[in-house]
Amino acid sequence: MSGDLNTIRLSATDRGVRVAVTFLRKGGLVAFPTETVYGLGADARDERAVAGIYRAKGRPSHNPVIVHVASLEAAARLIDLPPEGVRLAKAFWPGPLTLVAPVRAESGIADICRAGALTLAVRVPAAPLALSLLQAFDGPVAAPSANLSGKISPTSADHVMEEMHGRLEGVLDGGVCGVGLESTIVGFDEAGKPRILRPGGVTREQLEQVVGPVSAGPVTDDIAPSAPGQLSSHYAPGARLRLNAERPELGEAWLGFGEEPERSSAIAINLSAAASVEEAASNLFGHLRHLDALLEHSGTIAVAAIPERGIGCAINDRLRRAAAPR
Ligand code: TXA
Ligand code: MG
Repeated sequence: MSGDLNTIRLSATDRGVRVAVTFLRKGGLVAFPTETVYGLGADARDERAVAGIYRAKGRPSHNPVIVHVASLEAAARLIDLPPEGVRLAKAFWPGPLTLVAPVRAESGIADICRAGALTLAVRVPAAPLALSLLQAFDGPVAAPSANLSGKISPTSADHVMEEMHGRLEGVLDGGVCGVGLESTIVGFDEAGKPRILRPGGVTREQLEQVVGPVSAGPVTDDIAPSAPGQLSSHYAPGARLRLNAERPELGEAWLGFGEEPERSSAIAINLSAAASVEEAASNLFGHLRHLDALLEHSGTIAVAAIPERGIGCAINDRLRRAAAPR
């Protein structure tokens, strides 16, 4: 099923932002770039508008969404952050960090955003166009990644157009996302100690510099996922993935990292010839989409080993989910 709206591409200008705000005020859906990935935005106070996000993505109703605001002050009106949450927010906002904390009674956020949870996920993105949109809208914007549920997240307006055309009113085109992987999601236990629910753009090392030891990565639990992006199959191309490969087998496509092996494969692309995990992160989703299209969404992509350091941990998390049995 594809939608029947005439999705328009909006320029990264004051005028583009104004049109996007008009759509949001009417209860419509607008995709916009953050520094991580493109989000599919709706007015977070409008139950019907947010229901439209779930419909457009084919997202299961038990998977809550992240609410985006322009400042820590705006976030503090929505959730009760424990002291360590405030320290993390001051250190990393605006930026690729999402904080999950108890929702405040007077938040005004539509219940559907929480999908039944008593907590709400909130983020202040750093991309200038995202901040301009949030400031001009002057309200909270609910936005999951702007892809069909379970598929690869979009890191350009073209990705959104190709996959979601007809399902939303407009896409603010801010070019390619710099970080390229979703935000790090941090929740808190009863004692207010932080826990990483999803690795992402802010590394564990960076978090620990601010608040000391942070408990180990996300739990994979398909029955009660605490951040359902953790469903084991996610970010999935049509092609299968073979991870930690030394070289491609005959007929496989090759997604390399660092130095290239000797290979005969005709279809190959490198995440970072310079072996930079940051560069690899920003290329990951675009390169996966590209290879998947060349393979016509079948066959196998062999993927080189990515070092488990810094944002490499988040890359490996996404690759494992993309490779998981479906
Ligand atoms: O970088 C990002 O985080 C992007 C941009 C658009 O902000 N957004 C994003 O949204 O990745 P989405 O929906 O694809 O992933 C949000 C994740 C999901 O795994 C969801 O389950 C989790 O956040 N989440 C949302 N609310 C939650 C809550 N109250 N408790 C635990 N997890 C929550
Ligand atoms: Mg997503």
